Amino acid sequence: MATKYLDMTFTESVCHAQKQYYGSAGTIEGAPERDPLGQAEAEFIAARDSFYLGTISESGWPYIQHRGGPPGFLRVINETTLVFADYRGNRQLLTTGNVSVNDRVALFLMDYKNRERLKILGHARIEDVRIHPELVAQVADTKMRPSVERLVFIDVVSFDWNCPKYIRPRYSVDEVEALAGPLKRRIAELEAALRAPKA
Ligand SMILES: Cc1cc2nc3c(=O)[nH]c(=O)nc-3n(C[C@H](O)[C@H](O)[C@H](O)COP(=O)(O)O)c2cc1C
Repeated sequence: MATKYLDMTFTESVCHAQKQYYGSAGTIEGAPERDPLGQAEAEFIAARDSFYLGTISESGWPYIQHRGGPPGFLRVINETTLVFADYRGNRQLLTTGNVSVNDRVALFLMDYKNRERLKILGHARIEDVRIHPELVAQVADTKMRPSVERLVFIDVVSFDWNCPKYIRPRYSVDEVEALAGPLKRRIAELEAALRAPKA
């Protein structure tokens, strides 16, 4: 259990709601300054090919963007630092603008196949690759490097795992192909055997 996460999220109004509905509120004591990522979190992040990133605009509205890439595109640099490449895209720069006024971010990572989810809270820092071109090679693969405009560093403060309840298992096309591949090959073998002239 990452205590800092509860310390950050059990605000006065949240505790008030807990009392209203359940009669008492959770109390968090002795929370550390931050909860560093452990091996389980690092392995989970390294296996993800997408995540959702929540930011807050200066008007107070939450904003969520989907991020995707090859597994591990959200890199774990160390136990408190993550980074991913931000590509030239729709020219809206909503995440970039939001982070410039409020660096607090929420990451939401799903593993539908294994019915797991990890939530991360932290502070984001966005580096312009025109100023730090040397950083791009560390974060983006060769093919994608020309499209990288920014690098988004996340200073992790804490994280939380949720229970699997209500997560319906889903599989990506790649995962379905991996599962179906041996079956397809076996079917092809059997069809070939059926077509072959009987001895
Ligand atoms: C050539 C190109 C490649 C892109 N590749 C990715 C990608 O691999 N992963 C991703 O999450 N977004 C990718 N995008 C989308 C951009 O990063 C997009 O600008 C970003 O999602 C905008 O988010 P924001 O306005 O919420 O900050 C790509 C866009 C373009 C034009």
